[in-house]
Amino acid sequence: MVFKAIIPAAGYGTRNLPITKAIPKEMFPINSRPVIDYIVQEAIHAGIKEILIILSRNKTAIMDYFDRSIELEWFLNTHQKSNMLKGIVPPKVSFQYVRQPQALGLGQAVQLGQTFAGDDPFVVLLPDQLCLKQPPPLCKMIKLYEQFKHPVIGLQTVERELLQNYGVISGKQIQAGVYRLDSIVEKPQINPPSHLAVMGRYILTSKIFAALNQLKAENGGELQLTDALNVLIQQDEAYGYVFKEKWYDTSIESEYINAQRCAYKMNKQT
Ligand code: G1P
Repeated sequence: MVFKAIIPAAGYGTRNLPITKAIPKEMFPINSRPVIDYIVQEAIHAGIKEILIILSRNKTAIMDYFDRSIELEWFLNTHQKSNMLKGIVPPKVSFQYVRQPQALGLGQAVQLGQTFAGDDPFVVLLPDQLCLKQPPPLCKMIKLYEQFKHPVIGLQTVERELLQNYGVISGKQIQAGVYRLDSIVEKPQINPPSHLAVMGRYILTSKIFAALNQLKAENGGELQLTDALNVLIQQDEAYGYVFKEKWYDTSIESEYINAQRCAYKMNKQT
């Protein structure tokens, strides 16, 4: 069973400056709920019971959001607004937090989850990649993990000129939409090995920590999760699952606006 998740949320949000000087991009609203709330709901929907969020110094708003607000609860209760209480109750999942002192890459952020994960498999959800479809494709990834007992990476077919923004895999298709991975490369500037890009959902085992621990930091001291995955793939099995659903990269303004529109429509229909 996969019941733990790590959400790395310690980046500077440079694509969204200047707002991200003060407001974490994970707190950008969609229907009065921050993006990270959708990510947490997705994890819960997929059966996750324990979540570790990797934060940086200026992101305490995320902890506040998932905490109880006793004063607000009191106010709503005493002002005939108790019907609103449902909307502010924290999700029924256990939260833990770790601070990443410096933004030294996704690999280093995940490395900070080693004690949390222990020997259990875990999901990594990148909070700027949002899918509004129910059930979330993460459910299918977990089923595949239960079948293979090896890492499963979420993928999407991406146009060639955009591949340089993603991790890109090479591999063999073993069933519809499922690949056995041969290699993975981070943001290839030339000759991408396929059109299949990593989309911000990973199911990993504790072996990833051994791979991360043996990596040498790149210029600037960053550790890439993709490089550790590539080490793993060379030694062991790993799989990719191609999403068919629409995904939104909420760090890109046009996609954030589209996600808002879609969520607004869905909200009106319910
Ligand atoms: C990260 C990963 C990359 C992945 C992307 C989208 O890059 O390093 O492999 O394809 O997320 O999920 P970032 O967008 O943080 O630079």
